[in-house]
Amino acid sequence: MLGVAAMLPLMLLVTGSTDNVAISTISEVFGTQDLQRLLLIISGLVALSFVTKALVQLTFKWWLSGHTSRLEAEASTELFRRYVDSAYSDHRGRKMSEMHRNIGHAVSQAFGGVLLGLISLLTDGLTISLILVVLFLVSPWTTLGVIVFFGTTMFVTQSLLRKRQQRIGEEIAEYEAGAWNAVLPGINGFRESRVTKTSTEFVSRFFASRSEQAQAHRRMALISEIPRYVLEIVFVIGVGAMSVLLFSTQDQGQALSVLGVFVAAATRLLPTLNRFTGTLGSVRMSNAGLQIVVSEINQLEASGPVKLDDEPKLAEKQAIRISDVRFKFDDSDEFVLKGVSVDIQAGSTVAFVGSSGAGKSTLLDIILGLFTPTSGTVTYGGQSIHGALGSWYERVAVVSQDIFILDDSLAANVAYGLPDNEIDMQKVRDVVSLAQLDEAVAQLPDGLATRLGERGVRLSGGQRQRVGIARALYRDPDVLVLDEATSALDNITEFEISETMKSLAGERTIIIVAHRLSTVKNADNILFMKNGLIAGEGSFESLQQSNMDFAELVRIGSASLAEEK
Ligand SMILES: Nc1ncnc2c1ncn2[C@@H]1O[C@H](COP(=O)(O)OP(=O)(O)OP(=O)(O)O)[C@@H](O)[C@H]1O
Ligand SMILES: [Mg+2]
Repeated sequence: MLGVAAMLPLMLLVTGSTDNVAISTISEVFGTQDLQRLLLIISGLVALSFVTKALVQLTFKWWLSGHTSRLEAEASTELFRRYVDSAYSDHRGRKMSEMHRNIGHAVSQAFGGVLLGLISLLTDGLTISLILVVLFLVSPWTTLGVIVFFGTTMFVTQSLLRKRQQRIGEEIAEYEAGAWNAVLPGINGFRESRVTKTSTEFVSRFFASRSEQAQAHRRMALISEIPRYVLEIVFVIGVGAMSVLLFSTQDQGQALSVLGVFVAAATRLLPTLNRFTGTLGSVRMSNAGLQIVVSEINQLEASGPVKLDDEPKLAEKQAIRISDVRFKFDDSDEFVLKGVSVDIQAGSTVAFVGSSGAGKSTLLDIILGLFTPTSGTVTYGGQSIHGALGSWYERVAVVSQDIFILDDSLAANVAYGLPDNEIDMQKVRDVVSLAQLDEAVAQLPDGLATRLGERGVRLSGGQRQRVGIARALYRDPDVLVLDEATSALDNITEFEISETMKSLAGERTIIIVAHRLSTVKNADNILFMKNGLIAGEGSFESLQQSNMDFAELVRIGSASLAEEK
């Protein structure tokens, strides 16, 4: 902009008109009237102004890109934080593909596209206005004409393109989620995809999404070029019209200098205008990403994070009381739990058994505070665990059927989520022993320091479960919850784990869900669940007497065992 302003005296000087405020000021300051020297000085000033402009712009860009990249990193992290802080039931309702898309693509659209775009629009808008001000000083009426001329053209083209560009942005975001939707089963479900020979299907779904997205980008690129050509054509017509107007109303020298400034300004104005309209298009396109981020943040904000601090403290070694718990999922009318009441004494071992779909895992998730009962309460020492989750998670540990293995050492997997320097290696060794993992560790090349590889590729299913058990024991919990935690173990290892559990019983409350009856045989209390209700309870023998279904279960179990023999 400075450059354009500085061009004015230069142009006037070249055309021979020296009676200008700028030129006389310069000649006064430098104390010379000599045309040659003045020309040299003014050229120098113009060059200097361009160098200054470049430096200022570069510094600004440097600052801006640092700033927006940091904001983008923060926003992406914030979205991730809110996802992991949200209620488990909400989490289960979310699509993996969309979460991946939102944390990555959508956030970078919102910042790289919208925020940077808006800033660029602002600076370009400022440049355009300043150029117009200079032109206005040179020739007010012509400038007004130019504004109306270019303004109308831009307004018309932009209003024709706006909706289309927005829609393309939405399509691109949808295809992004579509691509993730194909990547996840292909990669996370590798074995299933391979054995069912469906990998190519996921690859072609991926390709379909990506090529649709590419088509959308192509359409976007094309329609974003339109305003540029329109502006160029309008500019050529404009210069023609202006020359006719200027030469017919003013003397040749003046007309020529005004036209010179206009052409100089236009060569500067036109790229800026083009960039301006281009940015406008990409802002509209990226707006889809911003909308996604905003609506996700709003939704996450409305349901709020699950708070794990500032809770009342729960005392140690207390009884758990489940009182008339009823539960249904938001997306269903049927109750999965229809009024479950159980008293679990501190230090006792209780087991939930029952057919598949009876509601055992759901009940455990409620005991874990992951689901909130639709009605009824779960208390620990008389205090609702749902009002004291932070403290509850210091008392309870869980081993689920699928153990998530970190791409880290065995020790880090046992101490799950703790930084290396906070891992108590002695404790790791102790719980590894308790979980019957000593032999497996001895076979690993680096023992406890062996990296297990992402998803625990180095471990067998049973070893993975024992890592889960060691992990739970490392937390030194008062309450140990096991959901089918020993299902993958062979009978001997299972027996040994049961012995471990027996040795822990008394000190800890143990809640087990298992289908294998040998796992639950020693429990103080067995609860037989059927259709979301406790259909019977008692020790193994007494339940066998009192509950027909359970007796049947035992009979079938022993019959199949007898057959095996
Ligand atoms: N999001 C959901 N919406 C509606 N119903 C659901 C949802 N998730 C689970 N269910 C239903 O809840 C019931 C109880 O499931 P749950 O996992 O608690 O059974 P389970 O007793 O643990 O069975 P299993 O022995 O097979 O593990 C099932 O009938 C299941 O279909
Ligand atoms: Mg289950």
